[in-house]
Order: sequence, then C-alpha cells, then structure tokens
Amino acid sequence: MTQLIDGKRISQEIKDELKIEVQKMKEQGISVCLAVVQVGNDPASTVYVRNKKKACAYVGIESRAYELPEETTEEELVKLVEELNQDDTVNGILVQLPLPRHINEDRIIRTISPDKDVDGFHPVSVGRLWIGEKGFVSCTPAGIIQLLKRSGIEIEGKNCVIVGRSNIVGKPMAALLLRENGTVTVTHSRTKNLSEVTSKADILIAAIGKARFITAEYVKDGAVVIDVGMNRDEEGHLCGDVDFKDVEAKVSAITPVPGGVGPMTIAMLMNNCVETARC
Ligand code: GUN
Repeated sequence: MTQLIDGKRISQEIKDELKIEVQKMKEQGISVCLAVVQVGNDPASTVYVRNKKKACAYVGIESRAYELPEETTEEELVKLVEELNQDDTVNGILVQLPLPRHINEDRIIRTISPDKDVDGFHPVSVGRLWIGEKGFVSCTPAGIIQLLKRSGIEIEGKNCVIVGRSNIVGKPMAALLLRENGTVTVTHSRTKNLSEVTSKADILIAAIGKARFITAEYVKDGAVVIDVGMNRDEEGHLCGDVDFKDVEAKVSAITPVPGGVGPMTIAMLMNNCVETARC
C-alpha cells in the first residue's frame, strides 16, 4: 500500500503544538509579533499574505500588516525594513515576494536583520544553515524535513535526489538532507540522463516547476516522492511536478498536490516566528 503523506494533517499538528507553546509564552509575559510587508497587489501574494495572517491569528502570534502601494520606492521600503529591524516589539519580518520590478529584491532581503529573517532568505541565514549553525531555515524545505520525520521516514544513509536548484527550495533542501545524514544529489535543467539519476533515489524531491514532469520512468520501485510543484495544467487544474497517477502505484510514499508540501510552508513560518522568542 502506498502511504499518502498528509501535509494538511501534519501542518495542523505543528500549528496546534505552536499554539500551546505561544500560550505558555504569553503566561510568562512573552509575546510574538510578525511584520508582514506587501508592496502592490499581486493577487497570488494577497492570498499568501492573507493565509499567513490567518495562521498567525490561529497560533496566537500578532501580525502587523504593512500594505504599501505599487509605486513605493526601493528607498522607502529599505527605510521601513530598517525601522522594523530596530523595533523591539517586532520579532520577525516577512517581505512578500515577488516585489515590483523597480525594487531590487536582493537588497531588500539583505536589509532584513538575520535575527528577524523568518523566511531564511538572508545570505547570513543561508551560510548558517550550510555550516550547521543555529539560524532561520527556508520554510518549504524545513517543512519537507518535518513531513518525512513525522511520517516515520528515515533520512540517514538514504540516497536523496533533488530535482531543481533554486535558492528557496533546492539548495536549502540539500543542506537540510545533508544535516540529517542523507547522501544528497542535486540535479537541474542541465543534468544529463536525468531519469537515470532520479531512478536511484530512495527519497526524490521534485522542485522543478513543470506540470507532471516526473513520470514512472524517473522513479525507483518503493521510493519516497515529495512533490514541491504547484502548477496549472492546460485545463487550469492545479497539479504538481509529479505525475501522481503514473507514479503512485510504484512508490512507497508520496505527497499529494494540493495538501502535501504546500500547507507545511506556513506551518514552518509560524515555527520560525515562535523560534524568535524561544530562549
Ligand atoms: N512568495 C512566495 N513564497 C514566498 C515565501 O515563502 N516568502 C516570501 N517572503 N515571499 C514568497
């Protein structure tokens, strides 16, 4: 029987644990506040931001919203982030991406204090992750580690293959799997004989951004398959990077889309916010 890895249930479990922890913090006079900054009104960003605020309310974290107009200048945004860095009542800062084209995203990410970088995007956070120092970890790959652990899937000694090398998923995923003593291979668009490499994976992470790209020929019998994709097919249906129907019978465990990796990102963002207040 193929195990369906239920991200909805596991993310709820994490949020419930955090809610209890936040309540205990409140009893000790410690509160947690996340500043959520959105520039412009990209519809997808508006949905993400709304869901983040909802999760904050559920867990008991104060969310402070900064909704800035599309015309906001880079200097104005830098100034706001610097003010939030200095504000002792703000624990975490999240600037929703993508930013309008006239704003340099890298500069904004670097302006956020690494001590408030709940997205884990700052180069200091990335460096800390790679050398095994305490710091914030990018939420989606951190969520994938939780999905594996809470589903009883051992990482140590396993052949882990990641398809995709983005800064937000592929690269931090490699660092995290390595930290868990996996044997890690990162593949990408220039990898030769991709299916030969992926079909050796005990744990396969698909983060390519191409609808139903991973079919049965890419997957080993009994593998664990984690699908990070969130795509629309030609008919507008939401689907992952994995051809679920083609692969399902062959694997030992798999995440669905939706309801797999997706809900974990916000749960881990909440965890990072609470982390800012943990001693
Ligand atoms: N846009 C899409 N996903 C994310 C995310 O995880 N963090 C931020 N800041 N922006 C995003």
